[in-house]
Amino acid sequence: MTLALSAEHEHQLRQASHGSIVALTGAGISAESKVPTFRGADGLWRRYRAEDLATPYAFAADPLTVWEWYDWRRGIIAAALPNAGHHCLRRLELAVGDQFQLITQNVDGLHQRAGTERVLELHGNIWRTRCTGEHHRVELMEQLPELPPCCECGALLRPDIVWFGESLDPGLLDRAFAAATGAALFLVIGTSAVVTPAADLPRLALAQGAFIAEINPEPTILTPIVHLSLRATAGEALPELVDIILDACTQ
Ligand code: OAD
Repeated sequence: MTLALSAEHEHQLRQASHGSIVALTGAGISAESKVPTFRGADGLWRRYRAEDLATPYAFAADPLTVWEWYDWRRGIIAAALPNAGHHCLRRLELAVGDQFQLITQNVDGLHQRAGTERVLELHGNIWRTRCTGEHHRVELMEQLPELPPCCECGALLRPDIVWFGESLDPGLLDRAFAAATGAALFLVIGTSAVVTPAADLPRLALAQGAFIAEINPEPTILTPIVHLSLRATAGEALPELVDIILDACTQ
């Protein structure tokens, strides 16, 4: 597609490309890999109640139902491949190295499967489990022995995902806030931007003077405040956007 940026937008984007670049992604970046979003047209939260599946209370009340739902989602994600959007962000990382930071709300691991290394997973990872007895015990567990799975200590294992009502890892959050504070260019890709604290990051970057560009086929709560809002999918917009950024970096 042709982004048809105004001359002013392109100038600002090119200027910002010389500094630190942060991308915040949400479920929308994986939509073109056929992983359902939460609040989009195919959104999971239109079909399921988060209160029944994504809270510590739901897990305590019915761990089997919660695990069956996560196991179903694991199956969808295992069959998915990273798409053009994921690959473009890896291309950006390869070109600018530690000037780039990816912050994702996604738990699907598709950014890492595209090769991206500098990823902060704010909401956890669906392929990891955490022991509900020994809370520090987190393990990569792609195959589940049974549902619901148990730790060798006898306690139940849970998905290593941040549920509603839980706090994010403070160390990760500090790194995400530091990246947002130092960003010259902040890309907001495929998120409805309604879940905090992730949704606070672009606002913070904006307040610190970053150029904010949003990619989303639908307007969001951020649209009125960002500098540039591209009504396109990640796979449509990112190839050209990343071309412009990389062209500007090498000038
Ligand atoms: P949402 O489902 O709330 O938002 C997805 C956004 O992606 C919507 O604004 C869509 O319009 C947009 N979208 C759809 N297809 C797209 C495409 N091909 N390219 C770009 N954008 C597209 O997902 P998140 O904002 O990620 O929490 O949701 C935030 C959190 O709420 C999730 O991390 C999850 C959920 O409860 C946990 O899992 C802990």
